[in-house]
Amino acid sequence: MHTVESVRRSPHAHRVLTGDRPTGPLHLGHYFGTLQNRIRLQDAGVELFLVIADYQVLTDRDVADRPAEHAENLVLDYLAAGVDPQRATVFTHSSVPALNQLLLPFLSLVSVAELGRNPTVKDEIAHSRQSAVSGLMFTYPVHQAADILFCKADLVPVGQDQLPHLETTRTIARRFNDRYRTGLFPEPEALLSTAPLLPGTDGGKMSKSRGNAIALGATEDETARLIRGATTDADRHIGYDPRNRPGVAGLLQLAALCQDRDPHDVAAEIGSGGAARLKATVTEAVNEHLRPLRRRRAELATDRGHLRAVLAAGSERANAVANATLDEVRAAMGSL
Ligand code: TRP
Repeated sequence: MHTVESVRRSPHAHRVLTGDRPTGPLHLGHYFGTLQNRIRLQDAGVELFLVIADYQVLTDRDVADRPAEHAENLVLDYLAAGVDPQRATVFTHSSVPALNQLLLPFLSLVSVAELGRNPTVKDEIAHSRQSAVSGLMFTYPVHQAADILFCKADLVPVGQDQLPHLETTRTIARRFNDRYRTGLFPEPEALLSTAPLLPGTDGGKMSKSRGNAIALGATEDETARLIRGATTDADRHIGYDPRNRPGVAGLLQLAALCQDRDPHDVAAEIGSGGAARLKATVTEAVNEHLRPLRRRRAELATDRGHLRAVLAAGSERANAVANATLDEVRAAMGSL
């Protein structure tokens, strides 16, 4: 049966795990790319696990900047967007020892040559500002397999760039099952978003480090300022043409996503209004769409204790699940 159909019919037969590196606030790219999908799955009744991947932050930098603060802010963004802490399990790598211990047997299942071929890792190495590539950079896809397999997730909502890691995870699940003659691990599937990749305000990939991202928690004025600075072109007639007018198309797409409309219709409405009218429309669309989320976010932000409590409860639950899986792994390997 097709996955989407199976989720609809029996949501409780599935478990979702996905996560984020705690390096800064979530932005509209995350929101339309995966966050909305996660919440839809949660609301359909699928059990949701969210890992705040604090050890993964150390792949491309020496020291993680204010990790606890970033983790709490991720929880804030999650809750504001609709993650329900009563149903979802939100936790950090560093709070779940048994998850991390799975890394060791998992590493034994992949070759150094395979690790070196991962295209996402290669790309990250090419863009890294570190002078030396650490062992963690090469092995973090295996650690990510532990993130997914400790709770036996079968669905992983991610962006395109994560597909090589999903392939590694499937390989590890299969090899573990084969080598130890067990059916312990499912081979999880990626769930790609159907929304097109949202460009940043400069037309490139939306990313906080490039200064082209609209954070979910940005104020309405900050949002307006970012959109006012977006790259467009001199043609006053606004049309949706992603190939030849990527800047204009990105903005149209953003308004369309916020208003659940077709970008061509948004363009037709603006007509010959030019970039100024386009930007005013997009700003209004984004601010209006995010208003309820931002209101919740501002309320939640006044209670840091609650954010920490959500993480503590998530960590307790994740530890119970990870300990149980580690016991099964030990038994399968004959270690007990
Ligand atoms: N690698 C992911 C990213 O950079 C974050 C992540 C860590 C993740 N562990 C995961 C995603 C497990 C999906 C499943 O965005």
